[in-house]
Amino acid sequence: HTVAVLMGGPSAEHEVSLSSGRECANALRVAGFDVTEVVLGKERNGDIVARLQELRPDAVFNALHGRYGEDGCVQGILEWLAIPYTHSGVLASALALDKTRAKAAFRAAGLPVVESIIADADEVRARHVMVPPYVVKPNDDGSSVGVYIVQAENNGPPALSASMPERVMVETYAPGRELTTTVMGDRALGVTEIIAEGWYDYDAKYKPGGSRHVIPAELPAEITAACLDYALRAHQALGCTSVSRTDFRWDETRGLDGLIILELNTQPGMTPTSLAPEQAAHAGYDFPALMRWMIEDALW
Ligand code: DAL
Ligand code: MG
Repeated sequence: HTVAVLMGGPSAEHEVSLSSGRECANALRVAGFDVTEVVLGKERNGDIVARLQELRPDAVFNALHGRYGEDGCVQGILEWLAIPYTHSGVLASALALDKTRAKAAFRAAGLPVVESIIADADEVRARHVMVPPYVVKPNDDGSSVGVYIVQAENNGPPALSASMPERVMVETYAPGRELTTTVMGDRALGVTEIIAEGWYDYDAKYKPGGSRHVIPAELPAEITAACLDYALRAHQALGCTSVSRTDFRWDETRGLDGLIILELNTQPGMTPTSLAPEQAAHAGYDFPALMRWMIEDALW
């Protein structure tokens, strides 16, 4: 089969996507596919449509992250072109990347989420819109780009950069251990704990050695079971297909009540330091086997 791997694109996670895309392209080749790497620039133009019409691949492996690649936009183009593609469809992608709407869907499914509000960035700069500690982030970006943690009252409101969107999400700070679970089809693969010095920011995510992954996480059986259950239900609540990754915080002083969903990623990172391929490998799918499963799943 011929596979076009989409990577790059206009989001804040352009570089992360290039790294994911190259890893996936290599693994797809090892798995025996005829691969074309489609590197998209940071501008939005019609290039992607022309490139795909010319290539007419049997399937697209979507290695884009963030806006336009993970939010239903590119999925809509692929639906129009009738080219099968990996990961979730238009609606699930759009819902998941809108963190506030995703939370509403999780809440409706009885899943625990962190309370948050949407506020004007100018107001957030001017005063504490919530009692600290709280977190300010774009409603629709990933990889911790543009995330501000406000620890204490006396720190003052955060000096959000000019590149932040006009409306931002302000979320109660959820303390605790950082856990994540990848879902593959109808199966939650396992739980990884991420141990970073300080918080799990962009550098801790992508610098080799920036964080340590404990897989399987050393947790009470009840918490492991809850992560697997919540991740699968979160995946289903948004109508996701293929692979997704749900991120949690667990405040161990509060037992099961201390476990909450931070977010679900419909296009989890596939870089050399990323969590989803590592969990898949642990569950018996090495990177090429994961790629083969995802393409076959897209082609069905
Ligand atoms: N947004 C990054 C790629 C992730 O969730 O893995
Ligand atoms: Mg994310």
